[in-house]
Amino acid sequence: MEVKEAINQRRSIRAYLEKPVEREKVEELLTLASKAPSAINLQPWEVMVVAGEERKRLSRLLVKRMKELQVSCAPGAVSRLPDEFLRRQRELFEVLSPVIPDGMQFQDFINEGSCNFYGAPVALIISIDQVFSSARLTDIGIFVGYLLLSAHTLGLGTCPIGLITAFQDEIKEELNIKENKNIVIGVAVGYPDPDAPINQIKTPRVSLEKIVRWRGI
Ligand SMILES: Cc1cc2nc3c(=O)[nH]c(=O)nc-3n(C[C@H](O)[C@H](O)[C@H](O)COP(=O)(O)O)c2cc1C
Repeated sequence: MEVKEAINQRRSIRAYLEKPVEREKVEELLTLASKAPSAINLQPWEVMVVAGEERKRLSRLLVKRMKELQVSCAPGAVSRLPDEFLRRQRELFEVLSPVIPDGMQFQDFINEGSCNFYGAPVALIISIDQVFSSARLTDIGIFVGYLLLSAHTLGLGTCPIGLITAFQDEIKEELNIKENKNIVIGVAVGYPDPDAPINQIKTPRVSLEKIVRWRGI
């Protein structure tokens, strides 16, 4: 598959088949993601692969803490943004709302779904040592970008899960991750449910005029 094709086809997957992902396949995925460039080739990313019963146990803990602390990434959770960004956020919720599974409240679907990695058999917990400055988050972002696209070419679906970063201490304790690491993001990985309406959604993007300015060309 061409990179261009993968970029155009990839989307966040929020419904997965129960089929486990083979360890070799996860290794292949991480090997591809590790080809990402990084400043001075520091490769500051660290990945904890959590699967099967361990993933479910982690999710139970995250759902419990999410409810106790009332953490949310659903509408209203981020309100101090300029109007343009609030509009983009609203637009996302408008495209997702009509296809959330029957009987579920939108907030519950997103918040509990995120803590459950949307039922994906594998959760990747990506962290960085606190020795690095925030500039190195760029490297993590590139690594995750490579990972999402590589997964797509391997027939795997993914969803980045930022919500879990609210539970730094809980995750570190549960997974025996050292105190001096920061959890940057989680990623759900699994085989997409091809029939789930939520997986058919293509989210919009703003036009280039909104984000690009030109000089000398
Ligand atoms: C850093 C980051 C954090 C995200 N966190 C979440 C999350 O916690 N829950 C969720 O359902 N989606 C999450 N997403 C997925 C975004 O909602 C999604 O990428 C965006 O709406 C664009 O849709 P697409 O990935 O289908 O192109 C996150 C994406 C990124 C890049």
